[in-house]
Amino acid sequence: MSTIRAAVTGVGHYAPEKILSNADLEKMVDTTDEWIRTRTGIRERRILENGATSDMCAKAIESLLKHRGISAEEIDIIIVATVTPDMFFPATGCIVQEKIGAKKAWAFDISAACSGFLYALVMGAQFVETGAYKKVVVVGGDKMSSITDYTDRNTCILFGDAAAAVLLEPSEDDSYGLLDYRMYSDGSGGQYLYMKGGGSACPPSHESVDKKYHYIFQDGKAVFKVAVVGMADVSEEIMERNNLTGADVDWLVPHQANLRIIDATASRMGLDASKVMINVDRYGNTTAATIPLCLSEWWLDGRLKRGHRVVLASFGAGYTWGGALLRWSLESPGKKS
Ligand code: COA
Repeated sequence: MSTIRAAVTGVGHYAPEKILSNADLEKMVDTTDEWIRTRTGIRERRILENGATSDMCAKAIESLLKHRGISAEEIDIIIVATVTPDMFFPATGCIVQEKIGAKKAWAFDISAACSGFLYALVMGAQFVETGAYKKVVVVGGDKMSSITDYTDRNTCILFGDAAAAVLLEPSEDDSYGLLDYRMYSDGSGGQYLYMKGGGSACPPSHESVDKKYHYIFQDGKAVFKVAVVGMADVSEEIMERNNLTGADVDWLVPHQANLRIIDATASRMGLDASKVMINVDRYGNTTAATIPLCLSEWWLDGRLKRGHRVVLASFGAGYTWGGALLRWSLESPGKKS
């Protein structure tokens, strides 16, 4: 029986223009550029001033469609990974569908925080691999600025806004596409990274606003310790399962939360820094958008090429984490002017 693999056949991203630099944050909270850079690797992040997560997702998908040369009406499914949906319902996926005019698609959201894109990618691939659908858009988008407390120096330095999307289609050659994945959750980690207010456990009230329950809470040290192990373990597992050494991997695409976590993962994989996609310095942690944002930027400037073996790895709230192995099938568009 021949295997249908889901290959990435299109990619696109959108990052808002407004930049919030470390120097700007120095004026807002008790912090320094030096502290932020040495602890996280972040120099600046983007902020969406007007609009919602769906607007960024729509722009990312429109860019993807333009590169791929197809219309929105050809999309079968839209899966949006986000923790900052426009609203609880309808799904941001449906709002995006309306905005881009993907009239024939069905659409929904998934919530897996910083692992959201990877979870959605693996889920989207199933629809292609079973032969049920042929064009599945997976988009990771988060307007983290909408749930960030800009008086809390522990969290406000970390996050930014962006969206990025990939198109999955059946691969013409089964040596290309999503070759392997391993996904994990551990609900005992929920207490270290969450947003308490707004849901059924703690509906919005004057009290929930006063107590700042509608903002991100993170115990950074606790999350750091498990993230560093979780992302390295799963990346190593993906390599072992596929008999790969560092020399066989062309790119590691890690979730962009903290440069120290990324470095530790690359080092465990035996990968040179030149094979690691890093843009956390320019965007901070954009949650579900980090991994496709890297893929889109590296593809656009020609560094990510057809045939490359790419390991994706993430860790986020839940806890959720995972790793995937892709063989990149898209031809490079060459350097953009
Ligand atoms: N500027 C200056 N000082 C700050 C600061 C800031 N922006 N934020 C915190 N500090 C202070 C703390 O108050 C603390 O001071 P204290 O020792 O007097 O209490 C000190 O710096 C050290 O804080 P700590 O939390 O131990 O720093 P850290 O080295 O762990 O780095 C993070 C903090 C958030 C950068 C780091 O823990 C991290 O990246 N965690 C994981 C994030 C992640 O991967 N999330 C998962 C996916 S979203």
